[in-house]
Amino acid sequence: MSNNNNNNTFQSVNSGTTSSSSVSKDDIIRGLNEDLAREYKAIIQYVVFSATLKGPEYGDIAEQLKTHASEELSHALEVARQIDYLGGEPTVKGEDAETSEDSKTMLEIDLRAEQDTIMNYRERIRQAEMAGEFALSEKLRQIITDEQDHEIDLKDALGIK
Ligand SMILES: [Fe+2]
Ligand SMILES: [Fe+2]
Repeated sequence: MSNNNNNNTFQSVNSGTTSSSSVSKDDIIRGLNEDLAREYKAIIQYVVFSATLKGPEYGDIAEQLKTHASEELSHALEVARQIDYLGGEPTVKGEDAETSEDSKTMLEIDLRAEQDTIMNYRERIRQAEMAGEFALSEKLRQIITDEQDHEIDLKDALGIK
């Protein structure tokens, strides 16, 4: 893999969505603040949807959404702590929450959000590792495990394999 002359350890071999060849602390802080804004949005959606989801077929998932809400709060707390640790300022602005009056649409909104979140945390883990921030990447791996469980819960409720 390292058979070229450039020995930059931060260099990305196959960078996916990271286009620059190196990752700075500022890049990571910026990315984590976007992650934090997505966590705020997730908390709002899960709080509202767990209360407003209608239909006997959605009884189990309505309960699960409450658990998701608490877990998203833990993620927000952890991400904010990591931003502070890196010398950044945790954002006070969430991404705009989406809503719907239709229960199935609520679950589809949540599923899309989880998939977007997972993609972004994967990218953040790559960045953290490129920058040698291994404690951070370890924390993010724990968070992504929860997000994957959320995705599975939503897919099950929607009858998607
Ligand atoms: Fe989360
Ligand atoms: Fe989640």
